[in-house]
Amino acid sequence: MTTSSPLTCRPTRVSIVGAGNVGSTLAQRIAEKNLADVVLLDIVPGRPEGIALDLVEASAIEQHDRKIIGAKDYAATHDSDIVVITAGLPRRPGMSRDDLTRTNAHIVIEATKQAITYSPNAIFIIITNPLDVMTYISWKVSGLPPQRVMGMAGILDSARFQTFIAMELGVSAIDVRAMVLGSHGDLMVPVPRYSTVSGIPITELMDAATIERLVDRTRNGGAEIVELLKTGGAYYAPASSACVMVETILLNQPRILPIAAYLEGKYGLNDLFIGVPARLGCGGIEEILELNLTDEEKAALHHSADSVRKSLDQALDLL
Ligand code: APR
Repeated sequence: MTTSSPLTCRPTRVSIVGAGNVGSTLAQRIAEKNLADVVLLDIVPGRPEGIALDLVEASAIEQHDRKIIGAKDYAATHDSDIVVITAGLPRRPGMSRDDLTRTNAHIVIEATKQAITYSPNAIFIIITNPLDVMTYISWKVSGLPPQRVMGMAGILDSARFQTFIAMELGVSAIDVRAMVLGSHGDLMVPVPRYSTVSGIPITELMDAATIERLVDRTRNGGAEIVELLKTGGAYYAPASSACVMVETILLNQPRILPIAAYLEGKYGLNDLFIGVPARLGCGGIEEILELNLTDEEKAALHHSADSVRKSLDQALDLL
């Protein structure tokens, strides 16, 4: 059968660097939601190709027609609308957080340099940890305006808080909205005043001690899963969170989501990426919202920012 069409069809393409647990699950989510074609890239020979083929073989069952390609060469990622970087190493025994920062910084620098060559107009979403630092590094290396580079963490941290609130109150997590600011780590800043169940602030539904317990569990949400799994970290909820960002950008939905964004004065913070609510769209970060914070919340956010800066200092010489 031959067809001819006057239309130029350029499929939407998302490239995912790192075909590990998070990367491959994200590829599955994007394809099965019919959002975009996906290129999965990894350094392990055969891994991205094998996962891509496995996902393609599910497409007739899952009823989508997105192309999924596995590759080790960045040329395959050409003209991506979005590049997601999940490549990195997990922390190994004897490795400090700073060692991990430098190791993953090398990986993210290389991934960004390669990806931007083939997709100079892409929006970059960074997932590799330590998240806020890796997002800064990718932004610097990319030379992109800060609106086009962002880190995935706030949606995940908020989703965890939402889940724990729903479990505590015995309500559907669908009706719970939560706000978590700050770095993706022990010093994240869940904000109960801005967390609601069907519009009702949780501060009216739970006592302070209960809220504090849920806040603590949220801060340790990643560690709780690492402890259970023993090998590796969470990936289903991280992939879902990244997929929300991809969907919001590709569909140009003006959703307001907590993400790691570059700050230039808002919240009294400068020259760093950290979790704040932002309006996303096809241009990337279209607006950063500045919430009214109490002195205590502001101090917690600044404390969180200090820890990001300290971690960033471990890798700045690599830029
Ligand atoms: N280029 C491309 N891929 C790489 C590179 C590189 N230079 N270095 C490592 N990778 C790949 C690995 O081969 C592996 O397949 O990155 C992948 C990472 O996958 P996992 O180890 O399964 O880690 P995952 O659970 O997916 O987490 C990825 O997200 O949430 C964060 O902390 C987490 O930084 C980690 C990242």
